[in-house]
Amino acid sequence: MTAPASSTKVRGETILSVDNLVKHFPISQGVLFQRQIGAVKAVDGVSFELRRGETLGVVGESGCGKSTLARLLMRLETPTSGRATLEGKDLFKASGAELRRVRRNMQMVMQDPYTSLNPRMTVGDIIGEPFEIHRDAAPKGSRDRRVQELLDVVGLNPEHINRYPHQFSGGQRQRIGIARALALRPEVIVCDEPVSALDVSIQAQVINLLEQLQDEFGLSYIFIAHDLSVVRHIADRVAVMYLGRIVEIGTEDEIYERATHPYTQALLSAVPVPDPEARDQRNMIRLVGDVPSPADPPSGCHFRTRCWKAQDICAVEDPQTVPRAADPHPSACHFAELRPPTPTL
Ligand SMILES: Nc1ncnc2c1ncn2[C@@H]1O[C@H](COP(=O)(O)OP(=O)(O)O)[C@@H](O)[C@H]1O
Ligand code: SF4
Ligand SMILES: [Mg+2]
Repeated sequence: MTAPASSTKVRGETILSVDNLVKHFPISQGVLFQRQIGAVKAVDGVSFELRRGETLGVVGESGCGKSTLARLLMRLETPTSGRATLEGKDLFKASGAELRRVRRNMQMVMQDPYTSLNPRMTVGDIIGEPFEIHRDAAPKGSRDRRVQELLDVVGLNPEHINRYPHQFSGGQRQRIGIARALALRPEVIVCDEPVSALDVSIQAQVINLLEQLQDEFGLSYIFIAHDLSVVRHIADRVAVMYLGRIVEIGTEDEIYERATHPYTQALLSAVPVPDPEARDQRNMIRLVGDVPSPADPPSGCHFRTRCWKAQDICAVEDPQTVPRAADPHPSACHFAELRPPTPTL
């Protein structure tokens, strides 16, 4: 399944390119002789490009493969197949010094600031840990100063370098996670639901910080979220995932104003609206049924079991994520069409 680059608003050259990436987790049975009886198709043919300086939002319900995608890019999982290049270098073939360079250039901010920081390490040791592996990034003797600079950059008090994670609030802990991700001065940061575990009042502060850091350091982000409204503030382009695949990808306008895939339209119509008048006006789509198991996705279009527009062809022919007559941005629907805009976000 290929997802060509979106049609408009190009911010820069491609920094990360992902081509038909697949991760199937084997399901085995048997005590003595383990046999593979199936596979969880967590990521099932994902392609996209990330441009220098842009933020690509990745959105989809829980279990659709977002974290697996992030972990594949960070080389925390081995892909079943597919290819990815970072600045033209093959991400999955790199080894030795090249792998260290690639790793250094792409960092991750985890979802849960409460569990992702080691409670027994001081903040200084947590943020400075990457310097243990990449010793040239902060020669001995300069580490504490580098860590204090990083604390300052993310809006924390540099004097708190010897404190422990439990002495910080959730938002502050996520700032520590961001400082750690920044330590090696990467060009790409993969943020896996960085604000999902935070209070709504704190979410905007962390998003603002990420935006400010992007401008300051010329960062490119993959920003994962399960909520389209969170991503809108920060993303230049958005990819919508369903059962291991990107079903629609486009610029902010293309996704929020001119979505053509029924799943995206359903997600948009379900976003809470504070204004009661706008709430009454909108044409809400209620999705029926649960997300099917990624171990046994429906034939043809993965979304067909919940789609109100499904026809016979949807069960046999897998729709490609390609430009459609209704709008030139890529959408994986045989019957892609515009809907009246929802007065939502
Ligand atoms: N290590 C693993 N082994 C087996 N299945 C996994 C593993 N990691 C994730 N999965 C499965 O892959 C699917 C996608 O998970 P995940 O990438 O965490 O989704 P998301 O981040 O979108 O919630 C889920 O069905 C999940 O249970
Ligand atoms: S291809 Fe068919 S089932 Fe899939 S989203 Fe489009 S109309 Fe629905
Ligand atoms: Mg996840």
